[in-house]
Amino acid sequence: MKRTLLLVALIVATSLSAVADKGMWLPSLISSRIKDMKQKGFKLSAEDIYSINKASMKDAVVLFDGGCTGEIVTEQGLLLTNHHCGYDAIQALSTVEHDYLTNGFWAMSNAEELPCPGLKVHILVRMEEVTERIAAGESRDEIIAKAEAEGVGFKASVESMYYGNEAYLFIYREFSDVRLVGAPPTTIGKFGADNDNWIWPRHTGDFSIFRIYADKDNNPAAYSADNKPYTPARHFEISTKGVKEGDFTMIYGFPGNTQEYITSDAVRYVAETSDPLKIDLRTQRLDIIGAAQKQSSETRIKYAAKQANIANAWKKWQGEVKGINRLGTLSKKLDYEARFRKDNPDKAYLLDSLSEAYNRNYEGYFTYELYNETLRGIELQQVVYIGLNSTIDDEKKAAAMAQFYKDFDINVDRQLAVAMLTAYCDNALVISEELEALVAAHGGAAAYAEWLYDNTKLDSIEGATMEAILNDPITEFVFAIEPIREFASHYAYRNFSNIPDIERWYRPYVKALMEWDKERAFFPDANLTLRVAYGKVAGYDYADGEYHLPQTTLEGIIAKDNPEIYDYNVPQALRDAYAKKDYGRWGVNINGKYTVPVCFIATNHTTGGNSGSPVINGKGELIGINFDRTWLSTMSDIEFDETLCRNIICDIRYVLFVIDKVGGAGWLIDEMGIK
Ligand code: ARG
Ligand code: GLU
Repeated sequence: MKRTLLLVALIVATSLSAVADKGMWLPSLISSRIKDMKQKGFKLSAEDIYSINKASMKDAVVLFDGGCTGEIVTEQGLLLTNHHCGYDAIQALSTVEHDYLTNGFWAMSNAEELPCPGLKVHILVRMEEVTERIAAGESRDEIIAKAEAEGVGFKASVESMYYGNEAYLFIYREFSDVRLVGAPPTTIGKFGADNDNWIWPRHTGDFSIFRIYADKDNNPAAYSADNKPYTPARHFEISTKGVKEGDFTMIYGFPGNTQEYITSDAVRYVAETSDPLKIDLRTQRLDIIGAAQKQSSETRIKYAAKQANIANAWKKWQGEVKGINRLGTLSKKLDYEARFRKDNPDKAYLLDSLSEAYNRNYEGYFTYELYNETLRGIELQQVVYIGLNSTIDDEKKAAAMAQFYKDFDINVDRQLAVAMLTAYCDNALVISEELEALVAAHGGAAAYAEWLYDNTKLDSIEGATMEAILNDPITEFVFAIEPIREFASHYAYRNFSNIPDIERWYRPYVKALMEWDKERAFFPDANLTLRVAYGKVAGYDYADGEYHLPQTTLEGIIAKDNPEIYDYNVPQALRDAYAKKDYGRWGVNINGKYTVPVCFIATNHTTGGNSGSPVINGKGELIGINFDRTWLSTMSDIEFDETLCRNIICDIRYVLFVIDKVGGAGWLIDEMGIK
């Protein structure tokens, strides 16, 4: 009797521990995972994560600037996110005299915090399934309008899950008075820049600090000097105890885009067509921009943000293709589909219909991607778009023009135009008669592009008058490619598979998978809605005989220090602290050295949008800020590999150390209640 019980317990335990760390779960349904989470070291309840009856962790998580995540860490609305998430706001506030990107910024009191016009954060009020309301005939717009009427500053959206098998209403409070409180210098916040991007071991202090303000009733309000720091229903307590291999970790944030259920056709498209093409096109652009940046430091600064954006996905896609090939994702999908066909002969037509739908929409989606990566990147067109925009007044136009020319170099753009127009014409499946005629008349795409830049008068802001714009050859070019832009815009969906004519086949297919594949833990693909992912702190086998430890320290920063290399020029404050081992309360022993922790990795399933997400220990305390994945994990948007996929986290102790020793902003540490 006893022995059988033991055996049962053993089987239950092993089958539980076999549950993968894969998945991005809807917080309102997290109770279905809580058993597994507890088994892995989570000490709290589902209600602590998400509740509509009491304050819960969800009240402390924000969607930051429409594409990142942030977390509230004090009763006064203090917010942490990544440096690269705050980058636009920090750059917008920077001038030559006050260069907060280069030097960092530290408010020493509430009065010194800087308003960030246009920056918004959203906090989830609640989410609920509305599949049945929609089935009963209520429209999405009606559902949204009702929800937004419920409270001050409410913004709602209805998002579909599982390709439209389910629909959820998300109601947020939208805060638009958000102020910059602190940011480390770029040499910390972006340490290692593109070289280290997507790479482990990592030493980036990728954090910045903001504060949410509200009106006197604690409601969202436009900026006003009378606004007060927002009092959240809940904030995260910080743990400075640190992490060790195997510790439970949870990520709470807004992942943007995954494609867990796509068929072999779509995997083939990504790995054999889309990624290779986009990588090649971006290599060309980066070569042009990089060469110009080498020649002049003015150009280096002008194109810094553009370069970073282009390089980020470029590097990710390369890792993604390698990962898909390494894992054999395509042949796994083909096997899976063959099994599905065999077990469900009556539903096999769904796979055929999906194949047909992909073929039918190939031209359109390919054109959308090709247009995006080539023609859209010819920047001088922006002048025409701004000039002819009838929805903004002259003052706004002038401001937009100034903004555009500030970071523009006509010679760089000429080279980009020659390369990208040529690439478009070489690869195009769809072309407009107007563009064809212009290219033919000028003796080819490259010659036409050269001619455009020889003859444009829009090379400087002084030249960009309304009259000049109306008569410029660039304007003729914009109109010539307008039919292409218009055609492509019909295919502008999150992924190839989300085009309605394809998605309508995924709906019954994924439903059939759920009924058939009972072993599989289904989670809805990421779509920039709030999710929970959990796992543990863990290193990994990087290569034969090469294990990567899960924690980096200040030792690694100093080892990379090189004043000659822009990306590795360590700020003097860190060198000084290192020389004197002046680590104050942040010094700890790691790997036998007295040092400061910097970053760590874990097995959480994350993607773009999870940047800035709170990383939480088993007790629900904040232990770090998520900011990246390793290069070997970038295919996890399509296939997550438990043994290899790792997310990269800035250790909260490094954040505190930098605030204290580099920023001298101890008042924030006091506000966070850290002893
Ligand atoms: N790879 C990280 C994330 O996508 C960080 C990107 C910012 N850093 C950069 N060098 N561009 O998306
Ligand atoms: N840096 C990414 C972001 O901006 C997160 C990295 C990833 O894609 O996992 O959201």
